[in-house]
Order: sequence, then structure tokens, then C-alpha cells
Amino acid sequence: MNKELPIAIFDSGIGGLTVAKRLYRLLPKEKIIYFGDTARVPYGTKSAETIKQYAIQITRFLIRFNPKIIVIACHSVSSLGTSFLKRRFPGITFIDVINPSALQALKTTRNKQIGVIGPPATISSKRYESIIKRIDSQVHVYQKACPLLVPLAEEGWFDTDVTKNIISYYVDDLLEKQIDTLILGCTHYPLLEKAIRAVVGPSVFLVDASEATGIKVKKVLQQQDLLNKGKLKKHVPVLFFSDLPDYRKKIMSRFWNTQALLIKKASTGGKKNV
Ligand code: DGL
Repeated sequence: MNKELPIAIFDSGIGGLTVAKRLYRLLPKEKIIYFGDTARVPYGTKSAETIKQYAIQITRFLIRFNPKIIVIACHSVSSLGTSFLKRRFPGITFIDVINPSALQALKTTRNKQIGVIGPPATISSKRYESIIKRIDSQVHVYQKACPLLVPLAEEGWFDTDVTKNIISYYVDDLLEKQIDTLILGCTHYPLLEKAIRAVVGPSVFLVDASEATGIKVKKVLQQQDLLNKGKLKKHVPVLFFSDLPDYRKKIMSRFWNTQALLIKKASTGGKKNV
């Protein structure tokens, strides 16, 4: 396989950009193709069947670019496992965000009290709990579904008082359990990190999926001898969104404001809503 082929990343919306940005910094020679399904966000309040259908449509769109790896930068899709995609698209390497984050949380916790916040689909799948408990059955995992946080992030309400109040409504129960580690079980949540930090205080370790996932992607590409080792050539990331109102472009540039980006509108060919 050609090492110059792109890394493809997808999410329900702008949240996966936290992963894309991290990969761009970690692997500056790699080409990045991103797809955010902004026409159908949020995923986390939808059924497993619908989420699977969306993920398949997006993968079909991304494989036109012949990616060397596809990163599922969405916990709602990752919580369904990767086997339904691997079966449909054999030969493609998929990396999810849940496994790397769960392992990082296990390395971080000292008191074995771990909290997880995420969209309803991710929390009800209990995937974090089962991965963590399989490795260490002594760990307690406290989970909380936070359906309002993705819309707040999509609207760019990253650090408002309203955002902090809603976060506090969701996480106060977890803090009462004396958690020392909080998994941000949604790639949108690092966008709200300042507000989350203000609520949880300085001593709780926040697990941001982008960090552990970035390391995992690098490792897998190394193992498969697919890292692009040519001369340093910074590529302009190409970001596709299934809906792109002007005001959202401003939110994106607020978040990823350093270098040139190519932002395009694209459709997976799927229905707007199933
Ligand atoms: N960024 C997605 C995730 O990590 C958000 C899910 C949603 O759209 O509800 O799960």
C-alpha cells in the first residue's frame, strides 16, 4: 500500500476535529480527510440501527479517497464495535476511540473510581464499563448520559455559564463518588474542556480520546509500515461536512484557526433522516 494515501476520520459533526487536529500535529506529513455528518448530528440520541447505517454510508464515501486507515472519531459509532464495518469493508483498518481511551483511564486512575460522560448511545452500550472491568474488575465505573452537550458544542457554546450549569447538573453525581478520572466519552467534549475543568476542579484527570487515539493510529501505521516518511510536506486537511451553514464555518475556524483548511460540503448519498 502507498504510504502517501490519506488518513480518513469521521464523526457525526465537528467533535471529531479534536481527533483530526491531534493527528495533524502528531503526524504532520500525513494527508487528512475528514467527514462530519453535520446534517444528521447528533448521533447519540439515535438507535443503534440508524447509527450503523450512517457509519456505513460515510465509510462508503471515504473509501473513494482510498484511505490507508479510517479513524472512527465518534464514540456513538465506536460503542457499536468495529466488526459491522470490518465485515462490510474487509481489508480496511478501522481505529475506534473507545479502546484507547479506556486503556488510558486505567493507567491514570489511582483510586479506581472512574467516571464516564457521553451521549446516550455510548452510555447505554456500557462499552467503557465492559472494557475496563474485563481488564480490572476492581475498578468502579460511574456513567452519565449527557444529551445536551453535543448541541452546545455544535453551537460553539464552549465556555458559557449555561454550559457550566448543564455540565454541573450532569457530573455532580459522579463527583460525589470521588472519581479521580473522568473519561470524555464524546469527541465533542474536549471543545468544552475549559467549562468541564471549571466544574470538576483541578484534581480530576480528564481523558481526551484524541490523545490516546492519536498514539494508537501512529503505532498501527508504524506496525504496518505505512507512516509517510517522505520530506516534511504539510498537507492542507480537507474537511467535508454534510451541511455547512455559514455560521458553522465561523465556529470551525474558531476551533481550528492556525492553518489553511479546505472546507467542503458533501453528501454520503444517504437520507437526511432515517
Ligand atoms: N462526537 C460524537 C461522539 O464522540 C458525538 C455523538 C453525537 O452526535 O451524539 O460520540
